[in-house]
Amino acid sequence: MSDFAEIILDGKTYQMPIVVGTEDEKAIDISALRAQSGYVTLDPGYKNTGATTSAITFLDGEEGILRYRGYPIEQLAEKSSFIEVAYLLIYGHLPSEEELNAFSDRIKRHTLVNEDMRKILDGFPSTAHPMGILSALVSSLTAFYPESLNPNQSKEEVDLSIIRLLAKISTIAAWSYKNSQGHPVIYPKNKLDYCSNFLNMMFAYPTEDYQIDPVVVSALNKLLILHADHEQNCSTSTVRLVGSANASLYSSVSAGISALWGPLHGGANQAVIEMLEEIKADGGDSKKFIEKAKDKNDPFRLMGFGHRVYKNFDPRAKIIKKAADEVLTALGVKDPILNIAKELEEAALNDPYFVERKLYPNVDFYSGIIYRAIGIPTNMFTVMFALGRLPGWIAQWKELREQKEPIGRPRQIYTGETERDYVPMEKR
Ligand code: SDX
Repeated sequence: MSDFAEIILDGKTYQMPIVVGTEDEKAIDISALRAQSGYVTLDPGYKNTGATTSAITFLDGEEGILRYRGYPIEQLAEKSSFIEVAYLLIYGHLPSEEELNAFSDRIKRHTLVNEDMRKILDGFPSTAHPMGILSALVSSLTAFYPESLNPNQSKEEVDLSIIRLLAKISTIAAWSYKNSQGHPVIYPKNKLDYCSNFLNMMFAYPTEDYQIDPVVVSALNKLLILHADHEQNCSTSTVRLVGSANASLYSSVSAGISALWGPLHGGANQAVIEMLEEIKADGGDSKKFIEKAKDKNDPFRLMGFGHRVYKNFDPRAKIIKKAADEVLTALGVKDPILNIAKELEEAALNDPYFVERKLYPNVDFYSGIIYRAIGIPTNMFTVMFALGRLPGWIAQWKELREQKEPIGRPRQIYTGETERDYVPMEKR
């Protein structure tokens, strides 16, 4: 294989170096293209463009492979815990028992938020979407911890910002839900593990304890692991772009939360349930909605289907589909929209439109069914995605700073008016 690519432009030949990753992925390094030739490349949606090199997550869309720091997602989902996976993603190795306990204890000690945050929370109407509250309150952490704004924080200071964010986001998320219900907030309890603590803050009341069910805790743990990172997706690329301007971790993650909210991205898990409910209310005719999804004149899309990278099954969807059956059985929950989801999947996987376009269920297709079964309300589904994705965002933000990457600033091809003189009002 050649060490460089040759590009011939206007009769001149340019050589651009080839980059090969540890999984044999190949790229043409075009860093010098414009300086040498005056040309830039154009790739709307960055479908063919690598923005960085990264050692955090590897995925192979053709083979349906996903690994965090080399460990297969199937093994981590079965054997690890969300806090251990967070440590792995952020620090690059599986922690020793001592490291894990210290990490987990530090997180527990930082779950409280400044009481003034409740004043910000009280300012939101109960109709506010929890994702809007989450993005705003995560950004407000810069006000409570202004030292986090220093781009030259020491390693210890960065670690403290990381711990604070991992700890407080679950409190903020649960409190945003309580706000939407008009209910009093529930404070974290340090004796509980991460997932149990979150569930307790979500579903306990001052008047009534929440019975923590190990089946529910295990399901939530698995879901958070499956969402923890996914290389350079839309929201992670947003975190990296904002972070590349030396913006703080909190500002960068707040921006990532907003990007994740989009229904084409993390907002799809809420959109899937709303779609399944619509199909159920319409009489449950999956084939009718498959035809709508294929109709170019119909804006309807099969939410939870298709993926920019996976042109084979999303490995996470396989694990979640199996977990959905297990959790609903264990909890004795019968959810008719699970059957609609399975019928829809079956119909789509046998329809040439979806087969030709390699459209398979993605991580969002079944996750909402489990969230519903464990009592998470639909408008909190994307918040759950953000809770899971946080360690990945943190790891990617930390990596870009450690790699001392330049500020992100893509080029463009201008297609507007060429030069023209100003026209005074009387002559328009
Ligand atoms: C996530 O990137 C990540 O890693 C994201 C994520 C992560 O962990 O961070 O995996 C999480 O965001 C999962 C995706 C969740 N979104 C959805 O489920 C929304 C529905 N899916 C899509 O809108 C779509 O599939 C995308 C956005 C996911 C991917 O879009 P692409 O890669 O830009 O593909 P495209 O829109 O150009 O579609 C290619 C073709 C088009 O048809 P043609 O123009 O070729 O005729 O496939 C069609 C599309 O119309 N198509 C669909 C479809 N998805 C694509 N048609 C019907 N239903 C769909 N869901």
